[in-house]
Amino acid sequence: AIDPQFNENREQVDEHEGHAVWGPVEEPEELGIHGTHVAVDFDICIADGACVEDCPVDVFEWIDTPGHPESEEKADPANEAQCIDCMLCVDVCPVDAIDVDAG
Ligand code: SF4
Ligand code: F3S
Ligand code: ZN
Repeated sequence: AIDPQFNENREQVDEHEGHAVWGPVEEPEELGIHGTHVAVDFDICIADGACVEDCPVDVFEWIDTPGHPESEEKADPANEAQCIDCMLCVDVCPVDAIDVDAG
């Protein structure tokens, strides 16, 4: 599962579409965590898609990640600022790849 303390335990190594990327990143096999308020561990995400379908405010957008061992698409928290903290995505992700900091 995603480490809920990722912002203390990892370094921000990049930015993507206005949100943070937390390393380590070694493309294409290792992609790190995207987002801060809504964080998705790309190295855990298997592209199940429940988060993309269920988020009531369309926070997530698919991005292609060819060559990643878990899946060749990831749910990117492209619109994390729109999040209303409903926690649905956290509940539906089958591999616990998402952390929402509602505190
Ligand atoms: Fe969307 Fe709710 Fe998840 Fe926020 S907590 S990203 S609003 S599903
Ligand atoms: Fe990935 Fe979980 Fe969403 S596997 S696509 S973060 S439901
Ligand atoms: Zn991203």
